[in-house]
Amino acid sequence: MVQPLGIKFEESLTKKIKPPQDQLGFGVYFTDHMYIIDYAFEKGWHQPRIVPYQPIVLDPAAKIFHYGQSIFEGLKAYKTEDGRILLFRPQKNIERLNRSNDRLNIPQLDESVFFDALKQLISVDQDWIPTEPGTSLYIRPFVFATQPALGLSPSTNYQFIIIMSPVGAYYPEGVNPVKIFVEPEYVRAVIGGVGEAKTAGNYAAALKSQESAKEKGYTQVLWLDGVHRKYIEEVGSMNVFFKINGTVHTPSLNGSILDGITRNSIIQLLKHWNISIEERTISIEELYEAGKDGFLEEAFGTGTAAVISPIGELNWCDEKLVIKNGRTGELSQRLYEALSGIQKGTMPDPFGWMVEVRVK
Ligand code: COI
Repeated sequence: MVQPLGIKFEESLTKKIKPPQDQLGFGVYFTDHMYIIDYAFEKGWHQPRIVPYQPIVLDPAAKIFHYGQSIFEGLKAYKTEDGRILLFRPQKNIERLNRSNDRLNIPQLDESVFFDALKQLISVDQDWIPTEPGTSLYIRPFVFATQPALGLSPSTNYQFIIIMSPVGAYYPEGVNPVKIFVEPEYVRAVIGGVGEAKTAGNYAAALKSQESAKEKGYTQVLWLDGVHRKYIEEVGSMNVFFKINGTVHTPSLNGSILDGITRNSIIQLLKHWNISIEERTISIEELYEAGKDGFLEEAFGTGTAAVISPIGELNWCDEKLVIKNGRTGELSQRLYEALSGIQKGTMPDPFGWMVEVRVK
């Protein structure tokens, strides 16, 4: 196992020009450096290094290209008004990364390797953390199979890389409500599959539906369960919540949806505010009934990239359901302000979620 602080550092000789903070978009610009560590069956994880951000060279037979052994994470760093650097619940990311690794038969990564990598990389590229409201430094750790071999078996070699990108809002709508298309035909995952792992294939499988939804004027797709095409699962880039008659409902973690860190935080916030929250199976018919009867008060998605994203309209089998007249609900707004306040260090953090990165 690698000793903390054993990371080799090669400094980038050229520094990129940073984009204006009001034009960041999502995942378009990358910082000056990246972190890499290799895995070989006989050596374990070894040779950690921070190098200038650059393309990587892979053998065309590398197993990632053929059998898709690849997982990733997403987390954010924030800079407070007094210059401190805060990470939002990074422990949850390493835990989920290793659960995804386990599901894809990828070797586990030591927590100290993960935290040391994050700390050192953020320290090197700390000037890239944007400070304007609604911005942050998005951190993308990922692992993939590098062994050049076409036999179908787990790779003997992997790389774990971290790249970082200064970001603004994930959706072009910003924090305004998004329109979501309910996918009636294709499914994202089934129980027992890899739906709860953060693996690249889950996202690839969503693209065809996402593109056809976009052609119809919808930003994203809401997935129904893989067996009955009846029960609400997730949006793919976010978990979903519905406020019905005063109670907030969200699909329970059934093994086929992602155990979102923002989802978990929102549930904790709602409980803290004594707002009734239920994790349960929700059918799309039930949701439409609630909408028609006037009981569906708000809907929103949650995710690291998306933060809190109000949902203003659903379309299921050509039937439109407009929620809150297409406007942002009070609860969605309150949750957004509370969560971003905690993350940016402008509001108290009663849950101890924020972890300060002390940089050199
Ligand atoms: C995230 O929210 O961090 C994700 O990984 C979702 C991705 C589609 C941007």
